[in-house]
Amino acid sequence: MTAKTKRYRLKIALVSGAVAWAAAVISCTTVSRTVVAPPEVAGATYVGSDDCAICHEAIATKFVGSTHAKLKVDGGNASEIGCESCHGPGSIHVQNGGGLFSMINPAETPDTCFQCHLDKRGEFSLPNTHPVLAGDMTCSACHDPHEGSASVGTGAPLAGVSASCLECHSAQRGPYVFEHEAVARDGCTMCHSPHGSVNQKMLKARNASLCLQCHFQEQTGPSTISIGGRDHSGFLNRGTCWSAGCHEAVHGSHVNSSLRF
Ligand code: HEC
Ligand code: HEC
Ligand code: HEC
Ligand code: HEC
Ligand code: HEC
Ligand code: HEC
Ligand code: HEC
Repeated sequence: MTAKTKRYRLKIALVSGAVAWAAAVISCTTVSRTVVAPPEVAGATYVGSDDCAICHEAIATKFVGSTHAKLKVDGGNASEIGCESCHGPGSIHVQNGGGLFSMINPAETPDTCFQCHLDKRGEFSLPNTHPVLAGDMTCSACHDPHEGSASVGTGAPLAGVSASCLECHSAQRGPYVFEHEAVARDGCTMCHSPHGSVNQKMLKARNASLCLQCHFQEQTGPSTISIGGRDHSGFLNRGTCWSAGCHEAVHGSHVNSSLRF
């Protein structure tokens, strides 16, 4: 072996699972772009996901149809590297009949994910984030790396996302006497950026515009600001809609239909 680990210079493109199917449908359904780099295992080469299925049947079965299953090595020897896009090339692991430490296991750090999702490192470096870079939480707390569109939870995508948030944030679960429809219908990510934000509590906006995404109304006069059928021009300079003693129970209330507390 050379002193320097041999670098694999491979172009990875995300292609549609079934090539024939993709050709028959509109071309823009086929994503084809170069991503940064899969992880490396010194001395090993890619074998393809089929080989992994021999011993890791349960994972391989649910992996079918997931976004990462569609990653392929581009070029003459094109092969499917779905599993290996996160675990590194598997020839040594397979030759040895499996075993620990011959594959990369991204359970401990998000570095493997950042190799392709560079922008996410930036999002998790913002002032208010989930503690992933601090090492208290991994990407797989919210993303199932082996299944579907990769967000943990079952059912419809949106319900699935909110359900996974509520596993840790039970205080926001309800049920409330007075629900805020935004939470149940549109989900947590309508107001929160789950990776991180410049705003406190990972909010998508730090002022009334967070709420006016949905509560904007046609204005009746130049000096009034009508929200919910009521003039708010005197209220908006007191603070945000949810501080200022107005709608503090943004997630839902047991006592007040205007979500005051
Ligand atoms: C011949 C059977 C066999 C094949 C083929 C195989 N594995 Fe494994 N793999 C194992 C065994 C056995 C273990 C150790 C399981 C344990 O003790 O928990 C393992 C462990 C792993 C681990 C955890 C390693 C760690 O250090 O935590 C990963 C990740 C993994 N395999 C991925 C793959 C991938 C990806 C492929 C296809 C390239 C593959 N395996 C092919 C048998 C196999
Ligand atoms: C998107 C990246 C990604 C892909 C693609 C991927 N894995 Fe994993 N894999 C992970 C992560 C992350 C973990 C650690 C999960 C955790 O946090 O416990 C893991 C853990 C494992 C383990 C260790 C045992 C376990 O369940 O914790 C095995 C074995 C494994 N993967 C096999 C596979 C196989 C086989 C494939 C393809 C069918 C595959 N992986 C595809 C990211 C990936
Ligand atoms: C607290 C939960 C949570 C954690 C932790 C988390 N994510 Fe996410 N992620 C989400 C949710 C929810 C979405 C969907 C966002 C939406 O629908 O607005 C998402 C979307 C994504 C997407 C697709 C959309 C996009 O923004 O590009 C990628 C890629 C992604 N996450 C990668 C990661 C990586 C990599 C990590 C770890 C470094 C990570 N995520 C950690 C909750 C999380
Ligand atoms: C080899 C490159 C590569 C690695 C490593 C990788 N991803 Fe991805 N991932 C992609 C590509 C390519 C896409 C699809 C295109 C896009 O949206 O950027 C994707 C999409 C996603 C999505 C959106 C899925 C969807 O269906 O909308 C999530 C979430 C995600 N990845 C999370 C992760 C996590 C978590 C890890 C680490 C465990 C990881 N990825 C590792 C290349 C990678
Ligand atoms: C695995 C557990 C877990 C999951 C899943 C999770 N979170 Fe968190 N969340 C945390 C932890 C830990 C913190 C940091 C708490 C702290 O610093 O006091 C946090 C912090 C937050 C905060 C800021 C709280 C504050 O007081 O500043 C918000 C908002 C939040 N999460 C929303 C979400 C949303 C939305 C989702 C789903 C997309 C989600 N979380 C999924 C564990 C989780
Ligand atoms: C309509 C917008 C909106 C939606 C939807 C929403 N939140 Fe919030 N959330 C807020 C606001 C605003 C705050 C800040 C409250 C404050 O500072 O007093 C907040 C604060 C939080 C906090 C910090 C604790 C607290 O009460 O201050 C957590 C945790 C949280 N939200 C989780 C969630 C979860 C989980 C969901 C989905 C079930 C969700 N949020 C949906 C607007 C929303
Ligand atoms: C995703 C859209 C959406 C967002 C964002 C949103 N809301 Fe709502 N909100 C609704 C819907 C839908 C209702 C129920 C129908 C209605 O009363 O307009 C509602 C109802 C309310 C009510 C009860 C009105 C009443 O008296 O019956 C209050 C108060 C409220 N929202 C405040 C807020 C605040 C404060 C924010 C920002 C933190 C916010 N909303 C963000 C969709 C949203």
